[in-house]
Amino acid sequence: MSQETILEVKDLRTSFFVEGNEVKAVDGVTFDVPKGKTLGIVGESGSGKSISALSILQLIDSPGKIVGGEINFKGDNLLKYNDNQMRKIRGNQISMIFQEPMTSLNPVYTVGQQLREALKIHRGLGKEAGTEKAVELLELVGIPSPRSRVTQYPFELSGGMRQRVMIAMALACDPELLVADEPTTALDVTIQAQILELLKELQDEFHMSIIMITHDLGVVAETCDYVAVMYCGKVVEYADVNTLFKNPRHPYTVGLLNSLPRSDVDQEELEPIKGTVPAPHEMPKGCRFAPRCPFATDLCHEKLPALEDIGEEEQIRCWIYTDEWDGDPEVKVYEPEQRTSED
Ligand SMILES: Nc1ncnc2c1ncn2[C@@H]1O[C@H](COP(=O)(O)OP(=O)(O)O)[C@@H](O)[C@H]1O
Ligand SMILES: [Mg+2]
Repeated sequence: MSQETILEVKDLRTSFFVEGNEVKAVDGVTFDVPKGKTLGIVGESGSGKSISALSILQLIDSPGKIVGGEINFKGDNLLKYNDNQMRKIRGNQISMIFQEPMTSLNPVYTVGQQLREALKIHRGLGKEAGTEKAVELLELVGIPSPRSRVTQYPFELSGGMRQRVMIAMALACDPELLVADEPTTALDVTIQAQILELLKELQDEFHMSIIMITHDLGVVAETCDYVAVMYCGKVVEYADVNTLFKNPRHPYTVGLLNSLPRSDVDQEELEPIKGTVPAPHEMPKGCRFAPRCPFATDLCHEKLPALEDIGEEEQIRCWIYTDEWDGDPEVKVYEPEQRTSED
């Protein structure tokens, strides 16, 4: 990787142990987050995005367990940290926001009390200084009349305002890395755009790195610099955002893009990816996508391809791009001229 990397996730494995079976939710995930940039993690529901995020912060509860890999944050492997060391990182150098603020905000405390608590733990601020900082943070995230809002309870706020409060809490300690797990999925489109815009502004102001988890390629296009596409607990493609949209390589990425509504294609012509995500106990032994892939050969069904570098900042897990490819040599999984060329 040519630029400075703030977080390097290497071969991360997180499993759930249920009724004697191991469900490999995150099955050897590798990606880098370049400093000051936004990495998108995209994939259908159940692909292991949230479990990857929770693993970074070591928020995996039993029956889940991180069973392997490295999570190098500014050069230190967080998986070697004890609970106490992790508590100092969480909400401080790395913070997280979730899809549904109502589950993360405590309904019985006011917005101000909750912000003050975070500021007390990580910054040692007392009540008065905490309240002043809380008002400042609410103002920063665009909440009108912040001084009166600090005394309100979460239920008194709209969904968009609650998500702004969550962002304020996440920013309370100037994190270097913000992990946002579907932060706008529960919001309507107008509010969604405002929240994404806010995150971008805050990133410019504070030079944060962001991991943006989403199932929505529209959100990726708007907010991300780099993208990791996940399928069945694995990264299948990693590229910068322009390369990914203009020159997607993995048939799964192409499928996701083809099912994305675009201005140049009629709604009826969109082709959703055929088939469904395999159940954990029916995981194909070869490429996880082979059963749904229009190009799959025996090799694909038999052997799992590795995630390989194919450019300076591009990685792909697909037999088509290897010397071993035994299918149609002409196979093209994308038609560059069909992609939108507005930009
Ligand atoms: N509490 C749990 N118990 C058992 N399996 C789980 C649990 N949570 C997640 N998983 C498994 O991990 C997979 C990935 O989950 P998740 O990371 O939440 O997906 P995503 O965020 O991409 O929608 C799920 O499909 C499921 O098989
Ligand atoms: Mg999720």
